[in-house]
Amino acid sequence: MNAKIILDTDPGIDDAMAILFAEANPNVELVALTTVFGNTEIDISTRNALYLKQRFGFKCDVAKGASKPLKRPPVGASIAVHGENGFGNVDMKEPTISADPRAAHQYIIDTVKASPNEITLVAVGPLTNLALALIEAPEIRGLVKEVVIMGGAFGTHEHTGNVTPFAEANVHDDPHAADVVFTADWPVTVIGLDVTHETFFSTDYIDTLRDTCGEVGEFMWDISRFYLDFYKSRMGVNGCFVHDPSAIAYVINPSLFTLREGPIRVVCDGPAEGLTLQKYKQTQHKTDEWADKKPQQVAVAVNDQGVLDLYLDSMTQYGNR
Ligand code: BDR
Ligand code: CA
Repeated sequence: MNAKIILDTDPGIDDAMAILFAEANPNVELVALTTVFGNTEIDISTRNALYLKQRFGFKCDVAKGASKPLKRPPVGASIAVHGENGFGNVDMKEPTISADPRAAHQYIIDTVKASPNEITLVAVGPLTNLALALIEAPEIRGLVKEVVIMGGAFGTHEHTGNVTPFAEANVHDDPHAADVVFTADWPVTVIGLDVTHETFFSTDYIDTLRDTCGEVGEFMWDISRFYLDFYKSRMGVNGCFVHDPSAIAYVINPSLFTLREGPIRVVCDGPAEGLTLQKYKQTQHKTDEWADKKPQQVAVAVNDQGVLDLYLDSMTQYGNR
């Protein structure tokens, strides 16, 4: 079964790894990359998506999205993690192709309406484009097949946050948008730090990608030098967590993940801004801001070796086509 996906992304080094994974795996049909601010400013995110499309010959569309959060002041680009150019400061030619003329949220609305119940929205950046699409055209809630999000942290295995002690970067970048997306009446699965911090690309694993996956493997190795330096200096580890590719792994093989059901809310201001909370107990309360919201799915466990095997297998086959 082919999953038709629109991948909403802020490329970004692990975004590039996820984009290439989606393009590589034969069970995924990559319909579009819709871009959003986050790891980089929006013009750089969009340039990077176009660069990947041109360099690796993707057929998908690219549509440029939001440059800032719905309400909060922008946090600013993650230059320390992804470099000035979002791809670890490797030399890149400017792409000579252009984005679709529509704004990303309009592209999402049009495409979902044109293919009812066929499109899976996968978001691996701040959730602004998805929230704008919902605000502009709430009827898409009933027309999307599934929404898969890399974002949030629910405290499983003590994974509580990365950009703050209690917030994950994508949700922290636009908490209001995340609350709109999580509370909407559409089927959401969240692949947060609870599982992405349980799967690890070691330096040896990335060397194997370089050695077995042709040009695409060499590209991933090149852009990940900067990212791995960040992990080494900040956390003292030899490798990196597997954030955005985990969302694609879920789309390809959901059985690699264990899910927990319950409505989700996001803290939108104050010291815990960006904190994600799922109510998974059936308790009743006089005041309950979760009570009337749709139960969503949060990944709480992962077969990490299964994700690593799936990624390497997909990329090896792609690199040797
Ligand atoms: C998320 O934040 C970004 O830096 C990564 O690309 C990923 O989407 C991890 O918290
Ligand atoms: Ca990302």
